[in-house]
Amino acid sequence: MSYKITVIPGDGIGKEITDSAVEVLEKVDEKFGLGLSYTYKDAGGTAYDKFGTPLPDDTIEACKASDGVLFGAVGGDKWDNVDPALRPEKAILGLRKNLGLYANLRPVKVADALVEYSPLKPELVKGVDLVIVRELIGGIYFGDKCESEQHNGAERAWDLENYSVPEVDRIAKLAFETAKLRRGKVTSVDKANVLATSRLWRRTVAKVAESYPDVELNNLYVDNCAMQLAIRPTQFDVIVTGNLFGDILSDEAAVVGGSIGMMPSASIGTSTSLYEPIHGSAPDIAGKGIANPMGTILSAAMLLRYSLHEEAAAKAIEAAVDKALADGYRTPDLWKEGFQKANTEEITKVICERI
Ligand code: NAD
Ligand code: IPM
Ligand code: MN
Repeated sequence: MSYKITVIPGDGIGKEITDSAVEVLEKVDEKFGLGLSYTYKDAGGTAYDKFGTPLPDDTIEACKASDGVLFGAVGGDKWDNVDPALRPEKAILGLRKNLGLYANLRPVKVADALVEYSPLKPELVKGVDLVIVRELIGGIYFGDKCESEQHNGAERAWDLENYSVPEVDRIAKLAFETAKLRRGKVTSVDKANVLATSRLWRRTVAKVAESYPDVELNNLYVDNCAMQLAIRPTQFDVIVTGNLFGDILSDEAAVVGGSIGMMPSASIGTSTSLYEPIHGSAPDIAGKGIANPMGTILSAAMLLRYSLHEEAAAKAIEAAVDKALADGYRTPDLWKEGFQKANTEEITKVICERI
């Protein structure tokens, strides 16, 4: 057995959290004999500084040639004023597009040990187990745009949202397939009372639903969904939605689980899949060695499960994370009086010891 993993640390806390996840991967490799090997590649502001581009071709090629990609995060104030086409964020957007990663799966589960940490009441978050299926390479993110033009004597900018039926069809099918393996419920989230793209979205999802009689479909407007996530998050099983709504709702849903630092994701499509935490480069804590690496570690577990089909190794990582939390270890984002405060390196060691 041997598997090639491309690791892209990126910017800010990216290096700290990917170092941690690789340490955990090395530990499960030792135990399960997986034969993992790693190739490190640049992307984001770090790549821009070195090569004048946030996404070197060489990084894309390495991803395509590997069995799975582990991505940290990109971005930071330092690059706020570079040419918009060369912003660090273009690295992750470009990778998603180049690898055809049309679906981003963002599971939100609340570890028993963290029920008390949510800003929501424990009785509301206990048992939350949902997954956001976010369309990832379409919508307003990838439509035509204009950074600046003169219009009726004023400067304006615009971004165009568009979705085609095949784009909605494939993400909807994935959502229904996902629901079939879970609790059989899909909530499709849109703004069909206002947006033409959302009306096409809703029609297309309804058509796909006809082939899944055992899965229940509900439609929700995105504003209501944002509220429902806060008042009764347990009602959700699979949420399927477009690129922008999925981005926003997943940060909101992350809070239900205690900290955004906990949340993993898998981006899948037509080529190598990519795994990354849902948070960003956290410039406010970068370099301090205190970032919560669990979202990245759990993303590595998803890589083992979905790309390498190493279910036992994936489960071992998830169990070790749960155990570390149950044993009272917390990075500062989750720390409370009475618990054991751990920095990134310490919590990584605690997790490795539990594998
Ligand atoms: P962010 O997710 O980086 O940070 C938001 C808040 O959450 C900050 O207070 C941060 O300290 C905290 N946080 C995030 N991850 C954490 C972790 N692992 N442990 C502890 N605390 C954590 O969002 P932002 O501040 O809006 O964005 C910062 C930069 O990251 C921007 O340049 C943005 O474009 C970029 N970004 C990149 C990605 C990505 O690479 N996929 C995702 C989101 C944002
Ligand atoms: C995410 C991030 C990215 C997105 C940015 C950095 C382009 O917020 O992965 O959630 O909006 O998709
Ligand atoms: Mn986001």
